Amino acid sequence: MPKPLFPVALLLLLISSAPSPAAGASSVLCNDSYYTAGDPFAISLAYVLSDLVVSGSARPGQDYYNISPYPNAFAYGRSSCSGNFTAGDCNHCLRSAVEVVNIRCPMAIGGRAALGNCGVRYEQRPFV
Ligand SMILES: *[C@@H]1O[C@H](CO)[C@@H](O)[C@H](O)[C@H]1NC(C)=O
Ligand SMILES: *[C@@H]1O[C@H](CO)[C@@H](O)[C@H](O)[C@H]1NC(C)=O
Repeated sequence: MPKPLFPVALLLLLISSAPSPAAGASSVLCNDSYYTAGDPFAISLAYVLSDLVVSGSARPGQDYYNISPYPNAFAYGRSSCSGNFTAGDCNHCLRSAVEVVNIRCPMAIGGRAALGNCGVRYEQRPFV
């Protein structure tokens, strides 16, 4: 007898009917200066953005700041996520915010995206 597909279908239904943490107005700002291909800043930025999603989602309601660990080009980041979100919601939302800033600010040396309930920002200099 073939295994029923029901559990998979149910899982997909649950995923698709979950509230969308990324929903809400989004505003995006990009620095008008750009880094070039091969700039070590690209690696630092990738580190910072991925850490903003992973570590930034751990404490909903508290802003999270980070700095890239590589010495030749620094990237500074901040994420924030609504205190009424779960860590899982924050992870989902921050992932979307990073995606938005990557798509809308390609190779900009600074950028930010604010979705309804979370936001990310990165710069080449420290900021608060
Ligand atoms: C969750 O918090 C945000 C502010 O961080 C607020 O805009 C939103 O309305 C809140 N949502 C609920 C369901 O309380
Ligand atoms: C762009 O980035 C540079 C370097 O971090 C900064 O000095 C400048 O203020 C930024 N411009 C904007 C519009 O954010």
